Amino acid sequence: MEFPPYRVLSAYYDDAWNAFCRNYVDILRIGRTYRPASVLDLGCGTGELLTHIAKALPASRLVGVDLSPDMCARATRRVPTAEIVHADMRTVALDHRFELVTCTHDAVNYLTDDGALYRFTARVAGHTTPGGTFAFDFATPAYFETINKDAQWTATRTGSVRQTTTFDRLSSIATTRFLFPDGSFETHHQRAFDEEEIGVALFRHGFRDIEEFEVTADDVPAGTLVWTAILSSDGGRRALRQNRL
Ligand SMILES: C[S@@+](CC[C@H](N)C(=O)[O-])C[C@H]1O[C@@H](n2cnc3c(N)ncnc32)[C@H](O)[C@@H]1O
Repeated sequence: MEFPPYRVLSAYYDDAWNAFCRNYVDILRIGRTYRPASVLDLGCGTGELLTHIAKALPASRLVGVDLSPDMCARATRRVPTAEIVHADMRTVALDHRFELVTCTHDAVNYLTDDGALYRFTARVAGHTTPGGTFAFDFATPAYFETINKDAQWTATRTGSVRQTTTFDRLSSIATTRFLFPDGSFETHHQRAFDEEEIGVALFRHGFRDIEEFEVTADDVPAGTLVWTAILSSDGGRRALRQNRL
């Protein structure tokens, strides 16, 4: 039987897929030299990153947003000090700007519809304080074409989950089928983005000072990159005005 994305996978997620986002704590030096007073985690999943940030920054305001009610339920249980909002990160409108906005572990690639990346980046800019940081990662066409093409088996506490990805170069859409031990399955669609289109979307919405970090972790392919971008001090308004000319 087929289920929507993360309805079943949410129960397995922390067995094997949640480790990658912990790299952000080190990359950003959270709790050491970097202590943002407010953090928004878009596509927060089961709340793994927020769990670590809550430990490092117990006084900071933490908010997580996720489209999956099942992931939200888990995040709410795991990080009681964070506010978890069930919403779409393409359209979310919170009444607050955050010093740090994160979107980790390929969550950006779930923005498959045309123009979604651009709309999403506008939302991120609208939720970031001027001078604040957006930190995220994304999978490129090269990733889906080469690294992810064979079926992978991931061991979990209750059996192996089979993951198969096909990639359509013309549409840049990757389709991943997760098959669970009980025979149920989910189909996930993700769009590959290249560095240029991500860079343009960031720049157009006022983000500057883009930095790139290579991450090595057991559950991610070598060469996976994390980008950080800082919202210009005028909150990106000048960049948006320039676009309209
Ligand atoms: C691969 S998981 C990453 C979860 C978490 N950030 C981590 O690092 O472990 C992708 C997450 O993005 C969420 N997601 C996908 N599309 C979304 C959207 N449009 N708005 C909010 N969340 C979304 C999924 O529900 C899922 O929890």
